[in-house]
Formats: sequence, structure tokens, C-alpha cells
Amino acid sequence: MTDPILVVDGLTVDYGSRRAVNDLSFSIERGEIFGLLGPNGAGKTTTLSVIEGLRKPTTGSVRIDGVDALANPLAVKAKLGVQLQATSFQDELTLSQLLRLYAGLYGVRLDTRAIRDRLEEWGLGDEADKAFKRLSGGQQQRFSLSVAVVHRPLLLLLDEPTAGLDPQSRRQLWDRIERLRADGGSIVLTTHSMEEAQSVCDRIAIVDHGGLIALGAPSGLIAQYRDDPRVRQVSRGEPTLEDVFIGLTGSAIRD
Ligand SMILES: Nc1ncnc2c1ncn2[C@@H]1O[C@H](COP(=O)(O)OP(=O)(O)OP(=O)(O)O)[C@@H](O)[C@H]1O
Ligand SMILES: [Mg+2]
Repeated sequence: MTDPILVVDGLTVDYGSRRAVNDLSFSIERGEIFGLLGPNGAGKTTTLSVIEGLRKPTTGSVRIDGVDALANPLAVKAKLGVQLQATSFQDELTLSQLLRLYAGLYGVRLDTRAIRDRLEEWGLGDEADKAFKRLSGGQQQRFSLSVAVVHRPLLLLLDEPTAGLDPQSRRQLWDRIERLRADGGSIVLTTHSMEEAQSVCDRIAIVDHGGLIALGAPSGLIAQYRDDPRVRQVSRGEPTLEDVFIGLTGSAIRD
């Protein structure tokens, strides 16, 4: 067996006196699509920002492809592709210019033809000379994903990649995520869509109040918790992943 692409161990993150992530541990195998699920404020984005090297944890470690990510941020940067929850790009630049810029930041040289090809790959061939802000929401999502994978990363982190997409674009994005995996990538994504988690993720972690409360394949979690009284109480028939999620995390809306 090969070593995991990502190991998060004992991660704790505080914002002042507020503990956002509390002793969280999980690991991701190579070629895996892994979903990080949890109610608003559960600590998903915070966890991703530590893996991305944007934030220092209070305690804990992150290993990416065998490398200590906190000690060697530059060494792991090239292995990582990142799409943030709210991405914005320099407003006035065109997609071709932006893609060239970001490729350059990763040390990838793309000539005009290659830029065109990449944009066409993402269904954005006709928008090459448009500014980012003139794209529709779904096109913006696709473009930010094309930037995240411009250097063909080993590990791709996606924070709510399908939020705001229509069903067609969502399906298309799922297909692309599958294809990235087929090309040897591993993916961590967050989502509030249980349908999405169930159809694209090999395994999911449910987190709440910064801590891990369940981990496994979607079907495995349903099987494991179907008779849990908290899940039975909220299910309206055959328990679904959403019933498990709500049963385990409670029905209250988070602030
Ligand atoms: N920059 C920050 N400063 C202070 N507190 C923060 C900051 N960012 C997040 N938090 C707090 O940390 C907790 C975790 O937030 P985080 O953004 O990681 O949640 P999330 O799981 O991504 O939620 P969502 O589903 O709403 O995106 C929340 O209580 C949030 O209010
Ligand atoms: Mg978030």
C-alpha cells in the first residue's frame, strides 16, 4: 500500500478565544475523492486554509505527499491546487491573461495556443478575451477550477465548488472532478449537498464544532447509523445520508 496523499493529525485552530477546529484527524488515500461535510461554521474552510498553508494551526500537523506541510510550505505548494470558497480575480484582466499569470506563478509556461486549449477544455474558449467579472457565476466557477489545476496538482482542495451552479454545470463539474482523479489526482471537497457527497465522494468526514463525528463511505455511514435513534427520529422512510447528517449534527441552525 502506498502512503496517503494527505494526513491531517490532531489539528486544532483557534481564532482568539474561539476554537474553530478541535483535534481533527483524517487522512486521504491517493486517487480518493474525499468530502468534508459539516454545518455552517463547523470548521471546514478553516481546515482547508491550514492545509493550504494560509493559516498556522494552534497544534497539529499536516503531511502532503509525505512532506511536512507546515515546515515546508514551498515544497508542498507545487503539489497543491486550491479553489477558495469565494474566489475573485484581478477584475480588469482577461481569462487568457489571468491563466497565463497563474501558470507563471506555478512555474508552468503556457504559450497562446496552450492557453486557448486549456480554456476550451473548460468550455471557456469563447470567453478567452473577456474579463473575469463579465462571466456568469457558473463560468467563474469553471474558470477558477481551471486555474486551480493549471499545474496539474497531486492534491486538489475545493471549497464548495458547486455552490450556485445549475444542474447541468454541477454534473459537468462532477465529471471533471472524476476525470482529475482518473488522471492521478486526489480531491478534497466541501459541500452542503448530500446528493453531491453521495454521488462523487468515495469517503466523507462529518465534522461539527471543529471535531470529527463520523467518517466513512456514504453507503457505509448510512448502514452504520440507520438504526441510531437520532437518525430514526429525523428520517421519513429509508434513512438517507442527509438523515444521518442531521441526526448526528442536530436540527438547530448555526449562527
Ligand atoms: N477569520 C476569522 N476570524 C475569526 N473567526 C473565524 C474566522 N474565520 C472563521 N471563523 C469562525 O470559525 C468557525 C469555523 O468557520 P469556518 O469558516 O471554518 O466554517 P465552515 O465549516 O467553512 O462553514 P461554512 O459552511 O459556513 O462555510 C466559525 O465559528 C467562524 O465564525
Ligand atoms: Mg466554509
